[in-house]
Amino acid sequence: MSAAPVSTSEASGDHTPDHIAIIMDGNGRWAKARGLPREAGHERGVEALRRTIEAAGDLGVRRLTVFSFSTENWRRPVSEVTALFGLLRAYVKRDLARLKREGVQVRIIGNRAGLPPDIAELVKRAEEETAHNERFFLTIAFNYGGREEIVRAVSSLAEDVAAGRVAPSEINENTIESRLDTSGWPDPDLIIRTSGEYRISNFLLWQIAYSELVFVDVLWPDFTIEHLKDALETYAARERRFGAVATGTA
Ligand code: FPP
Repeated sequence: MSAAPVSTSEASGDHTPDHIAIIMDGNGRWAKARGLPREAGHERGVEALRRTIEAAGDLGVRRLTVFSFSTENWRRPVSEVTALFGLLRAYVKRDLARLKREGVQVRIIGNRAGLPPDIAELVKRAEEETAHNERFFLTIAFNYGGREEIVRAVSSLAEDVAAGRVAPSEINENTIESRLDTSGWPDPDLIIRTSGEYRISNFLLWQIAYSELVFVDVLWPDFTIEHLKDALETYAARERRFGAVATGTA
């Protein structure tokens, strides 16, 4: 039996994706084109994120996962890394009350061990205070890498095997999925990457096995509800087969 690439939207025959994941790329280029520091692009990126959360909810999407800081982003200048951490801190502080009121459940995925203690505490609080919300699910991938997540999952499983709590014969897709940061959640139906780049960049490697990919040629700070609508239309026109044959094929 395979781990659930559960797609609520496909199961219901609805062509609106239940779960969208976005690689918010192009902040640096947006800033450079205006002679601004890269950090200014990330600040405008937060505005685009706020717009997108609201628009996604209005358009019937229930889950949104965004890539905010990758395990590879540590290679950037310290000033930029500091700014990105500061933006997460500011975002949670400023938006938490509204997200709570609007029924948004917030979760953070990624390696928490690398987070400064105050941010770790802040995201824990955001998760606890919104845990009962079920109108919309926002996941922020921060200090996240798809390979790193799989390594942590496999390593925790290996510890259980070594301790005799899990038999090697019990290892299957479900046991690995159950140790991922996203355990138990539906996989993304649609991945959107902005900025005209055609890469996955270590985002949700396990979870996107059957996701549809849409690449949008706009820098993230300029991403609008119209771009989102276009991506949803592109998605709606796709036929997802999950390895089976096309419907109507003899
Ligand atoms: C990629 O653009 C974007 C990032 C590495 C960071 C994305 C972060 C945000 C949109 C804001 C943070 C939001 C929260 C909630 C913390 P890039 O910098 O690689 O752009 P470039 O390819 O043009 O240089």
